[in-house]
Amino acid sequence: MSISAQNILDTLTHVRYPGTGKDIVSSGMVGDVSVEGNKVSFSLTFQKANDPFFKSVVKAAEQAIITYLGEDVDVRGHIAVKFKELPQVSKDESLLPGVKNIIAVFSGKGGVGKSTVSVNLSVALASLGYKVGLLDADIHGPSVPKMFAAEHEQVMAEERNGKQLMIPLEKYGVKFLSIGFFVDPKNALVWRGTIAGNALKQLISDAHWGELDYFVIDMPPGTGDIQLTLVQNLSITGAIVVTTPQEVALADARKGVNMFMNEKVGVPVLGLVENMAWFTPAELPDNKYYIFGKGGGERLAQELGIPLLAQIPIVQSICESGDEGRPVFLEEKGIFLSLARNLINKNNEFQQK
Ligand SMILES: Nc1ncnc2c1ncn2[C@@H]1O[C@H](COP(=O)(O)OP(=O)(O)OP(=O)(O)O)[C@@H](O)[C@H]1O
Ligand SMILES: [Mg+2]
Repeated sequence: MSISAQNILDTLTHVRYPGTGKDIVSSGMVGDVSVEGNKVSFSLTFQKANDPFFKSVVKAAEQAIITYLGEDVDVRGHIAVKFKELPQVSKDESLLPGVKNIIAVFSGKGGVGKSTVSVNLSVALASLGYKVGLLDADIHGPSVPKMFAAEHEQVMAEERNGKQLMIPLEKYGVKFLSIGFFVDPKNALVWRGTIAGNALKQLISDAHWGELDYFVIDMPPGTGDIQLTLVQNLSITGAIVVTTPQEVALADARKGVNMFMNEKVGVPVLGLVENMAWFTPAELPDNKYYIFGKGGGERLAQELGIPLLAQIPIVQSICESGDEGRPVFLEEKGIFLSLARNLINKNNEFQQK
């Protein structure tokens, strides 16, 4: 059977928005309907960010299409979720006045590649001509200084407008500071909650970051006090979540996404990055081995209604470059440029709303 846009709309009148009890078509929530062969896509617009019903409405819409139009209709993952307004949360606007976009790079679990993504995304954005700052806020394992081979560099302070301000270091066009310059990693565990939060706040407010297009924050993994302090004190424009495809990592990533999307926090999650998605040995360049499982990132992105911004394979050069203090972006430009472009597009979409 060939499907028309009208078939889709007719079918979707069977789905109700629980908040009003009205069907989603007459509520004006359905748009951008497109049919290409078996592939059906459309958008659903919700009034508020973090609408409590958005996931269940997306699921119900998918189910309705499959029930009424047939099992072989390809609709899962093709429903774009849009929000009309973002919640207004009062934040300290005087922090980072010259910064246009603050992007938090987050992971539920440690060791999944958050710092690798933060560093290489920053260098990719800088290579596209943007002014970029990077803050390594990972109190448990600051690794940006090592990734930039800057562990032994000193941070200077200068007087600006009557205030002593730290001058961020700069590598590959990226200005950066790290909590690692101030804390001996061996003592990191004693830095708890608000103390760590305040130290981080100083790295933000007492540093001369100047005018920046993107300020990337390598967040500590997990959803504790430090993360909340940061998120509540800064006007974060968007978060990206890094995960590996294993179930445990996905479960933790899910928790993290919920923290950002929580009504009180109200930070849009711009998308997911699946790291260590597969491994291709150099001698078998056409083979992909899904060491940590296949398609986990894609499924989680679909479930949460957020885009999959990039899939990064396991590449030996990524591991080596991290250890040697040279961003792997310099060799693997394609992956990180496409991540940077996808992020910019998604972020612009949210800014225009
Ligand atoms: N795609 C990849 N291919 C190969 N090695 C990788 C890849 N991604 C990350 N690594 C390596 O895995 C290790 C962990 O990565 P990274 O430090 O970026 O993770 P993290 O999430 O920031 O960890 P932490 O929680 O400790 O801060 C590093 O040694 C890094 O070089
Ligand atoms: Mg890290």
